[in-house]
Amino acid sequence: MELTAAEQRMLDGEEGEGVRKAMELVVALGRIYGAQDLVPISSAHISGVSYKTIGDGGISYLEHVSKESKVRVPSTLNPSGMDSQRWREMGVEEGFARKQLHIIELYARMGVDTTCSCTPYLAGNLPRQGEHVAWAESSALSMVNSMVGARTNREGGPGALAAAIAGRTANYGLHLDENRAPTVIIDADIDGSLFQHSLLGQAVGSAIGNGIPYFRGIRPDWEEAKIMAAAMAASGAVAMFHVEGATPEAADQDLSGLETMHIGEAELTEAQDSLTGTEDIELIAFGCPHLSEREVREMAAFLEGKEKRSDVTVWFCTSRQVRDSMPREVAILERFGPVLADTCMVVTPVEGLFERSASDSAKACNYLPTLCSQKVRCDSFEKLMEVLL
Ligand code: F3S
Repeated sequence: MELTAAEQRMLDGEEGEGVRKAMELVVALGRIYGAQDLVPISSAHISGVSYKTIGDGGISYLEHVSKESKVRVPSTLNPSGMDSQRWREMGVEEGFARKQLHIIELYARMGVDTTCSCTPYLAGNLPRQGEHVAWAESSALSMVNSMVGARTNREGGPGALAAAIAGRTANYGLHLDENRAPTVIIDADIDGSLFQHSLLGQAVGSAIGNGIPYFRGIRPDWEEAKIMAAAMAASGAVAMFHVEGATPEAADQDLSGLETMHIGEAELTEAQDSLTGTEDIELIAFGCPHLSEREVREMAAFLEGKEKRSDVTVWFCTSRQVRDSMPREVAILERFGPVLADTCMVVTPVEGLFERSASDSAKACNYLPTLCSQKVRCDSFEKLMEVLL
């Protein structure tokens, strides 16, 4: 691999042990994936935040790294295992909370912005088209690759952190033009609701794995795109998509010779059925990925003046920025259930609190059974509201 003189000095330890180790990891990943060189990044988004997912081993690693390293590009964090302010109300145990707050403090010591959200692009960390970044969080990185035209591979937590410390990442995969071309055309025949975009993502991810779909027949807005991107990344490993007439790189693509798949009502029903294992639920969780301002506003408008008539718990998961910026709408939602920030239904220890949960997000419904021991119902906002009202 070709390194610049400055990069070689970093690798030789001239900028300290922390930078040397970060460079070692970035270069090693580059060698594994056949990168010719490194590329500077403008931001990082780091996963591996919840104590539930990284455990004591993750804390030891972060204690070590934080002693000798600081990030050198703007870097944000994925959701943690609890709302940093309202964890007691969530039912999170004190021991878990202490360790979770310690993890966040370790990231803060390294200069990472500790707003813990999976929609950093809606909360101040929005790359520009053509910029190289190193992002973990499968839904977020798919959004910036696809909707923004920035460039990132599907980084893991340690890889994204190392790139943030080194300020560069290995130049392979989706950093290169030739790997951003579509691999399959999807003719989508859906009604255009948010939930149908979620199921569309589920059906496409299951069918194409880590391919790059080129959608025809849809024009998703950011909310529809984020729930679809999340589902494709969870049911498959889709890290980028194109939408005809909408996404920045769609017009440049050559579609000749590509297979075309049709996704319509039958495939969506099959996707929903594959995710639903119970009708009887204790928790309804919205906000996977984290709710945008617009979603909070629309939910509040729907719920204003209505009464909750069920003892099913509701969580609305969003970023701290959105929660803090919309006190009136948040107050309306709070009459139905807590508006939680910094966390989500999957990375919090939900399994200690509930056994049967529901969401309109296919991504959440993929992970709630496997990572949280839940029986799940996957359904639309409107249908889930019928349970409550
Ligand atoms: Fe975000 Fe949690 Fe879903 S991190 S994308 S809300 S599983």
